[in-house]
Amino acid sequence: MTAIVQTKGLEKRYGEVHAVRGVSFEIAAGSCIGLLGPNGAGKTTTMRMLLGLTRPSAGDVRVFGAPIAALGRGFRTRIGLVPQDDNLDPDLSVRQNLEVYGRYFGIPAGTLATRVPQLLAFMQLEERGAAKVMQLSGGMKRRLIIARSLIADPELIVLDEPTTGLDPQARVLIWRRLLDLKRQGKTLLLTTHYMDEAQRLCDRIIVIDGGRVLDEGTPRELIARHVAGHVFEIAKPVPADLLPEGLEREDIGDSLLVYTADPHALRDRLPAEIEYVHRVANLEDVFLRLTGRRLREA
Ligand SMILES: Nc1ncnc2c1ncn2[C@@H]1O[C@H](COP(=O)(O)OP(=O)(O)OP(=O)(O)O)[C@@H](O)[C@H]1O
Ligand SMILES: [Mg+2]
Repeated sequence: MTAIVQTKGLEKRYGEVHAVRGVSFEIAAGSCIGLLGPNGAGKTTTMRMLLGLTRPSAGDVRVFGAPIAALGRGFRTRIGLVPQDDNLDPDLSVRQNLEVYGRYFGIPAGTLATRVPQLLAFMQLEERGAAKVMQLSGGMKRRLIIARSLIADPELIVLDEPTTGLDPQARVLIWRRLLDLKRQGKTLLLTTHYMDEAQRLCDRIIVIDGGRVLDEGTPRELIARHVAGHVFEIAKPVPADLLPEGLEREDIGDSLLVYTADPHALRDRLPAEIEYVHRVANLEDVFLRLTGRRLREA
């Protein structure tokens, strides 16, 4: 495996706040990795350390096989960044936002003249090139920030919540484009609070909370490991002897969640008068199981 990113024991302290507490992972070239975690888990801080935007308090980061300090300024053109917050220039047009960014990265004017319209078309913004950023909808701004992240044709693209707050149509377009980028051989690192999105796009998932990695694997591995593959949501009260020993269960108030790898066996045990819903387990089940159902301060 060629690792595009390697982190080892990465930590970040902001005074009293220990935001990242020893995060280690690798990202294989050409893969899409999802960094998932509740608000305040340390996702953005981790990403910023990979980009050299925040200095780690401890631990190592290697990008493209070398420590960031050894890479020089030029390495920034090899990474595209979609930050969590919109930092477009509101006074410039859509096209100018891309051009200014391109010039900042030292891309020749001739290259920009062909790349800017290509990127606008890629993100379905070709009609909007002359519009001012402040005239764009939230979804258009997000698409423009993604287009901007691609201006230097980077090998690694880091996307911090690229689809938060967007309507389903805009999300689907962005998913298609991210899959296109993967097919072109790009490496993607993404955060999202939409578990369906992570399941659809990511080859591997890293779940973090409280600045630590809770688990890592393919979506399928994580589902099998933590929620057995199938979920039964059984209305309470559930008779004490109804469920076989050894099945993981979780009380969520009005009902009991029971996780099983053998849904037929469990269904056969449930009497007709018991109300339940059976469904295939998904990454959201894994996420809630690993990080809990308690509401976080954002
Ligand atoms: N510049 C900073 N100064 C002080 N504390 C910070 C700073 N940046 C982040 N933190 C704190 O570090 C912790 C992790 O924040 P971070 O932004 O990495 O979380 P996140 O996983 O990206 O959350 P979200 O899903 O809300 O974006 C939080 O407790 C946050 O308040
Ligand atoms: Mg964040």
